[in-house]
Amino acid sequence: MKTLIFNGSPRNNGGTATLIKELEKNLAGEVNVISSYKANISPCIDCRYCWTNDKCSIDDEMQKVYRLINEADNIIIASPIYFGEITGSLLGLMSRLQYYYVARKFRNTEILSVKKRNGVLILVDGGDGYADNAMSIGKALLRKMKSEFIGSVYFSGTENVPKNKTIVPENIFAEIKALSINLSKIPDTETDQERQARIYPILLSEYNPAWPQWFAEEKVNLERLIGIENIARISHFGGTSIPGLTAKPTVDILLEIVETIDIEELIASMPNEEYTCLRKEGNSLSEHDRVMFLKGYTDTGFADKVFHIHVRYPGSYDELRFRDYLIAHPENAVEYADLKRKLFKDYEHDRDGYTAAKGEFIRRVTKKARKL
Ligand SMILES: Cc1cc2nc3c(=O)[nH]c(=O)nc-3n(C[C@H](O)[C@H](O)[C@H](O)COP(=O)(O)O)c2cc1C
Repeated sequence: MKTLIFNGSPRNNGGTATLIKELEKNLAGEVNVISSYKANISPCIDCRYCWTNDKCSIDDEMQKVYRLINEADNIIIASPIYFGEITGSLLGLMSRLQYYYVARKFRNTEILSVKKRNGVLILVDGGDGYADNAMSIGKALLRKMKSEFIGSVYFSGTENVPKNKTIVPENIFAEIKALSINLSKIPDTETDQERQARIYPILLSEYNPAWPQWFAEEKVNLERLIGIENIARISHFGGTSIPGLTAKPTVDILLEIVETIDIEELIASMPNEEYTCLRKEGNSLSEHDRVMFLKGYTDTGFADKVFHIHVRYPGSYDELRFRDYLIAHPENAVEYADLKRKLFKDYEHDRDGYTAAKGEFIRRVTKKARKL
């Protein structure tokens, strides 16, 4: 689980910082805190570079934050209230979310991966007791980051305590704790299968031009581990191999091995800590796969780069025909991407169901591809 917290307070030990620390204590998984006062992030200058380019022109720490937003399961905006609003510094940082708005409006592109993100607001003020504006802008900003508002904690009254001290009442701590449990959402009675579905959800990502490079790097790894003499061909296939396609960010690799290789030796040459080997028994491998290796499945969820390596004897495979057909027929690639987006909503935590539902389209296109 990944949580991204935006901290809009300049004070190290104020109310906002205290509540963030309390929340961090109770949160499972990876937590990143971005302080608007400390980060090297400039406000948007409305240069309009992103109207025509898939990038923000300002090369600063926000580039990392865009990645963190994309990967986050939870996004938290925590800020003091200044003049009835979240702080100007945090608003400055948030102005860089314009990049997402422009992509949607002018380039018809969704930059953020389709995944469920929880959104939370934590607000702190001196004692006015008026948080409506901050609440409303906070919710709008969460929406811009494609996160769903699930709750807020509002602590009003830091100025009622002595200077340089912030005493947070117990009931506010209790609210933070309840929120963190909600964010961690790990049911007590979870089965192994439910856990797998939760920590390895189906993700859909806009096309990432780095995918071919990930493939190239892994190809070198495989050649080193298995030995070039044992390999007939290594190919990149699946959604990430089709330029421009919205895809599950998993690099599928077809590894054709020479028939003389001993499969047990092959398995032994793949380090256990990096590769999980699936065998025919009990696993839903393709009828052609001798074995399959998964890479990038950590105990807490996906690593940054995820690979499925399908091991087969040399042959003529439909998966490669399907890939080549979609590369040559972009209109079908668009149709495929639309279908995946639609299915995603129904099958977020049901990998097999999702794959089955795509089957009809794949069969239809493969039939056409075979005739070429
Ligand atoms: C520039 C400025 C404007 C403020 N405006 C408000 C306000 O409109 N309402 C209010 O209740 N407190 C206001 N405060 C008080 C802060 O919200 C309060 O000190 C809060 O504890 C600051 O958050 P922190 O403790 O996390 O730094 C303001 C403080 C500053 C410095």
